[in-house]
Amino acid sequence: MPTRLPVRPEFADEQPYGAPQLDVPICLNVNENPYPPSPELVASIQEAVGQAAKNLNRYPDREAMDLRADLADYLAEESGVRLPPEQIWAANGSNEIISQLMTAFAGPNRTVLSFAPTYSMYPEYARNCYARYCAAERTDSYDIDLDIARNACKKERPALILLASPNNPTGTALPQEQLVELLEIARGTGPDEGTSSIVVVDEAYGEFRRDGVPSALELLDTYDNLVVSRTMSKAFGAAGLRLGYMAASQDIIDQVRIVRLPYHLSAITQAAARAALAHRAPLREQVATIRRNRDRMAEDLRALGLTVLDSDANFVLFGTFNNRHALWQGILEHGILIREVGPEGFLRVSIGTDEENAAFLAALKEVIHG
Ligand SMILES: Cc1ncc(COP(=O)(O)O)c(C=O)c1O
Repeated sequence: MPTRLPVRPEFADEQPYGAPQLDVPICLNVNENPYPPSPELVASIQEAVGQAAKNLNRYPDREAMDLRADLADYLAEESGVRLPPEQIWAANGSNEIISQLMTAFAGPNRTVLSFAPTYSMYPEYARNCYARYCAAERTDSYDIDLDIARNACKKERPALILLASPNNPTGTALPQEQLVELLEIARGTGPDEGTSSIVVVDEAYGEFRRDGVPSALELLDTYDNLVVSRTMSKAFGAAGLRLGYMAASQDIIDQVRIVRLPYHLSAITQAAARAALAHRAPLREQVATIRRNRDRMAEDLRALGLTVLDSDANFVLFGTFNNRHALWQGILEHGILIREVGPEGFLRVSIGTDEENAAFLAALKEVIHG
């Protein structure tokens, strides 16, 4: 007789969550960068990892100071905002960053507020740290209504407010004026009298924003309850590396340092990430290509008579279909995996290479027209 495990009652019916990983020729389902690392970058990573391997008997720098300094340089170049390395924090993917923030500031009897539809992992992290997750509604065009947000903040008194911008799965960016208003609202709406809610702007897709769309990093100087989270998984083309980071006030980072696991970032990860950061120059052109291809994909989908949301990310949400599952399945039968996610009737496709995008459009036309 097997023993009965002391399963947490709230997990009794839960399954591990994640996008389907299927072995198909074209994967346009998890918003990766379609271009593999260059041979020069691969050689650099090999060299850096080889050096790090010589000291693997020792624990890594648990503060990852060199890496944080490199990330600060990158952010200064990318967004024009120069921060000291102490205001940057790195972890294994921005998933871990957001999870660490929840562990540090949420927890039992505390609430995390977000606006649906948004990134599907947020409720899972809240659940893991016993926090309450509250999803306020967006408007019909998936924007945030400030009156709804104000009321939700006053009623829920959230420890954290999570705003993905550009948002996943809609691809839409939060206008800066709205973010400023939300930051003002969040002053004083924290869980305890006199505390503020922390506003986390998840900019996983930040580098793909259209010209003229500012980064929330520009507001860090003014708001010490603001966190901007970023990742090397998307624009950097390093999803397999698992490196996410955030920019925030030192007080926020100090709280996260209390809950992080000791030596959470391996010496191998730190070395590989630094090598990738040093090779960032070709990235600019690659990101520009992906942005152009995204705009072209939106036009091509609209030309098919479909509804397509304006995207500042490396994917587009399109629809609407009476039976989106049948469409998803039909495209899969052409060897192309996209994502069945988001509001009813919509599907999401990541921007691939020219060939992948063309194959997807051809498959879609065939499935729609039979
Ligand atoms: C909005 C958003 N935030 C965070 C992540 C997590 O990315 P990673 O953990 O790879 O940095 C994703 C991944 O798809 C995302 O869409």
